[in-house]
Amino acid sequence: MHRNSGAILWDKAKKLIPGGNQLLSKRAEQFLPEFWPAYYQKALGCKIQDLDGNWFHDFSIMGIGTCSLGYANPEINEAVIQAIKDGSMSSLNCYEEVELAEKLISLHPWADGVRFTRGGGESCSLAIRIARAYSGKDVVLFSGYHGWHDWYLATNINNTNNLNNQLLPGLEPAGVPLSLSGSVFPFHEGNIEEFEQKLTENQGKVGVVIMEIWRYAEPDLDFISHIRKRCYEENIVLVLDEISSGFRLNTGGSHSIWGIQPDICVLGKALGNGHPIGAVIGREEIMDAAQSSFISSSYWTERVGFVASLKTLEIFQRDNVAKKLLATGKNIKTKLKDAVIQTGIDIDIIGIDSVPILIFNGGKGQEMKTLFTQEMLKRGFLAGNVIYVSIAHKSEDVVAYIKAATEVFNVIATALKGNIYEYLNGPVSHKGFQRLTK
Ligand SMILES: Cc1ncc(COP(=O)(O)O)c(C=O)c1O
Repeated sequence: MHRNSGAILWDKAKKLIPGGNQLLSKRAEQFLPEFWPAYYQKALGCKIQDLDGNWFHDFSIMGIGTCSLGYANPEINEAVIQAIKDGSMSSLNCYEEVELAEKLISLHPWADGVRFTRGGGESCSLAIRIARAYSGKDVVLFSGYHGWHDWYLATNINNTNNLNNQLLPGLEPAGVPLSLSGSVFPFHEGNIEEFEQKLTENQGKVGVVIMEIWRYAEPDLDFISHIRKRCYEENIVLVLDEISSGFRLNTGGSHSIWGIQPDICVLGKALGNGHPIGAVIGREEIMDAAQSSFISSSYWTERVGFVASLKTLEIFQRDNVAKKLLATGKNIKTKLKDAVIQTGIDIDIIGIDSVPILIFNGGKGQEMKTLFTQEMLKRGFLAGNVIYVSIAHKSEDVVAYIKAATEVFNVIATALKGNIYEYLNGPVSHKGFQRLTK
């Protein structure tokens, strides 16, 4: 297999940028070590052009779930370009942040106030700060993934297994102050007993519960309503992190579908359709605690994120985008399942319809995933084990993806009958976080 310019540039990047880039999920090793194109020149709709001028259909992470409206969406571009022409930074504030606050509150009527950031992890940190300031209690109980910040990684100080089964297992808390040990503990969806045990062990000290409402399947509503009730009883701030679950089932936070009322909800990713914006929305008395803590940053005032977000929300509501994402994703899942049955390989197709997930089973699951990515790449697709569906994925794109995937499933079936390593052109892809060799 030919090593393209992007793969070669990635080798150089790893010498200059520790870890190669700024996001684990975009490392070449997560997909196809030594051969992943890694860099793009253009991204339009659901297509990406690599450094050698090759175009690929993106049936992978779509900007890690940020671009539900497609890359370089023309309407968003127009709004953003106008904002840039009119000045995207100044000594005064942009009025769009007030408009966006009003809009987000109207979408989440239980909320009264909003603070904005640029990224997801920092939005979670901000939510934790406000919640601790309000409750006056330090200990955090969490479920799910919430970014890279000290408050979160501190959980692995006293037990390196604490992040197991929370999306990214085994993260080292290197550089996180040891004094944060004992400030944050995990719980797992559906396990009321474990949650109660953590509350008892930290009696009177828990100020915040933060959780992803769902990741792979619809939420366990009995579990969430138990947590909601206990947070009220114990005067604990309940934060729902909807950075990934938002905008996949509806416009905004998915909790409103089930009538769940958190104290704080965190949004990001799809909120700006590829332009950086994060939002922490919450009840008045809790958000007011932001005034007693110093929370301030220059680029949180920059205009593009607000403008992109307002346009994103307008399009989501006007075009019923969430419904379209679900319909496209359902179609992909059904056809993938048919292809799996037809080719007889051991893959489960799971996930919420708008985020289909392929689980490659058996002792050679990671090898199968790598071979899938390799062979799909040869057929013009960026593909891994998760598809963030966008409205740019049209039915003809889905037909082409399913045709290629069916061919590749057959290749995998043949490879599994022999030595799968003979079919792989390079090393097996990484699972989770690993140190990179330069
Ligand atoms: C639920 C959740 N919280 C927080 C984050 C961190 O967001 P970011 O990568 O924008 O910092 C993510 C990112 O995947 C996420 O899925």
